[in-house]
Amino acid sequence: MNIILLGPPGAGKGTQSDHLRDAYGLTKLATGDMLREAVAAGTELGKKAKDIMAAGGLVSDDIMIGIIREAIRSASKSGFILDGFPRTVPQAEALDAMLKEEGKALNHVIELKVDDEALVARISGRFSCAKCGAGYHDHFKQPKVAGVCDACGHTEFTRRADDKAETVAKRLEAYHAQTAPIIPYYKAKGALTTLDGMADIGQVTQAIDALVS
Ligand code: AP5
Ligand code: MG
Ligand code: ZN
Repeated sequence: MNIILLGPPGAGKGTQSDHLRDAYGLTKLATGDMLREAVAAGTELGKKAKDIMAAGGLVSDDIMIGIIREAIRSASKSGFILDGFPRTVPQAEALDAMLKEEGKALNHVIELKVDDEALVARISGRFSCAKCGAGYHDHFKQPKVAGVCDACGHTEFTRRADDKAETVAKRLEAYHAQTAPIIPYYKAKGALTTLDGMADIGQVTQAIDALVS
């Protein structure tokens, strides 16, 4: 099963793709996570991406398509979830071409629809485990024991460098201008399901499970 999770910054793509990975054994391919790892490791890719991400812009299509081509080849036999890719129409077209080459197909393209005002609240309260990356929120998803990661027991957490208010505004602009046009692209193919991403985390998970299982 191969799935794309689409939606603006803070829509819940990371939260729900973790669930899909754990519940269905899919490989999670999250381009934002890959880029943040490259920035932290100081690789060539990281050096190219660092300032673009900090400014809330998009890394070039050529670079992103190259990364995903490799990642899709090494995905598990059960399939993959794309979180954060494609993000432009050229990326969506390149994905179609590479899936065809690999003899793979998309089973679901899921759009999580969330109002811009809610996104700012979600992003400004987000933090994650410094060791395993599990995601949390100051109000909407606290660890079961305060200060301790549910998944690995670690006690240090981090916040993303691009989650500052002014950068979030730029990321939202980039979403509406460059990413939203892929929604009609998938709608025209009859592949798109739009879900209410304003619902609680558990309700969104249930809606996704009802669709894919
Ligand atoms: P990326 O890491 O993909 O960031 P994003 O798209 O801005 O999305 P986020 O990760 O901020 O949000 P999310 O939808 O994953 O939400 P989450 O589940 O965490 O990309 C970062 C940057 O990398 C880009 O700006 C760009 O520069 C670059 N990049 C990446 N891919 C690229 C590409 N293909 N091409 C070019 N450039 C690329 O949820 C947010 C918070 O809300 C969490 O705290 C969570 O607990 C909480 N929450 C989740 N769901 C709910 C809910 N239903 N109710 C209440 N709270 C909720
Ligand atoms: Mg994310
Ligand atoms: Zn952890």
